[in-house]
Amino acid sequence: MISFRNVTKKFGTHIVLDKLSFDIQPNEFVVMKGASGAGKSTIISMLIGAEVPDDGSVEVDGVIVNAMDEDTKQLYRRKVGVVFQDYKILPRKTVFENVAFAMEVCGESDEAIQRRVPMILEKVGLLSFQDKFPENLSGGETQRLAIARALVHKPRLILADEPSGNLDEENVRGIIRLFKKLHEEGATILMTTHDPLVEELAKGRTIYLENGKIV
Ligand SMILES: Nc1ncnc2c1ncn2[C@@H]1O[C@H](COP(=O)(O)OP(=O)(O)O)[C@@H](O)[C@H]1O
Ligand SMILES: [Mg+2]
Repeated sequence: MISFRNVTKKFGTHIVLDKLSFDIQPNEFVVMKGASGAGKSTIISMLIGAEVPDDGSVEVDGVIVNAMDEDTKQLYRRKVGVVFQDYKILPRKTVFENVAFAMEVCGESDEAIQRRVPMILEKVGLLSFQDKFPENLSGGETQRLAIARALVHKPRLILADEPSGNLDEENVRGIIRLFKKLHEEGATILMTTHDPLVEELAKGRTIYLENGKIV
């Protein structure tokens, strides 16, 4: 499903990733662990084509992401569910509208939006919050909204960058339970974290990243 081949990434003279290679099989649940600055978010960015390697290749489903033209990249991104480290929630839109917006920008019909958004909100346990604004959500609820938005296109690949953020243990447990459910439903999951609790709960394969290499 995912294949990094000798990926090197530099920012200026700083080598963030150093000839990094790893594979993730379809329907694996992989936790990528590493200290702050290890390059976890950079890896997620490369998987959606937002950053390109200086050398090597990033392949997803047999296609080289770093060689895609802009149009192909746009279509590709719709098939990948991404939960960003900083959520990227729209503060002036309600919970419902935040999820709906992710469908609108892809030109989905009103009818599809009205049918699908409640289903997704139900899945993440936010149906009764659909008319609330993000400022009235707790940390755990905000994170679940970010996950809901990543699910609009029924992605087979879900990338989650530090989804446990600053959540307390109970909320971390809830979030991991949700990812495990998505995994059981067939998704391939790559989650980054620096939190030992996430690694313990996920019970998946762990990849350790240190100084740009896998250790
Ligand atoms: N756009 C950028 N420009 C310059 N340096 C960057 C940029 N993005 C990330 N970095 C640097 O690359 C390193 C890895 O960052 P990042 O992938 O965000 O690490 P992590 O997510 O593991 O904390 C850090 O030293 C960070 O400062
Ligand atoms: Mg990061």
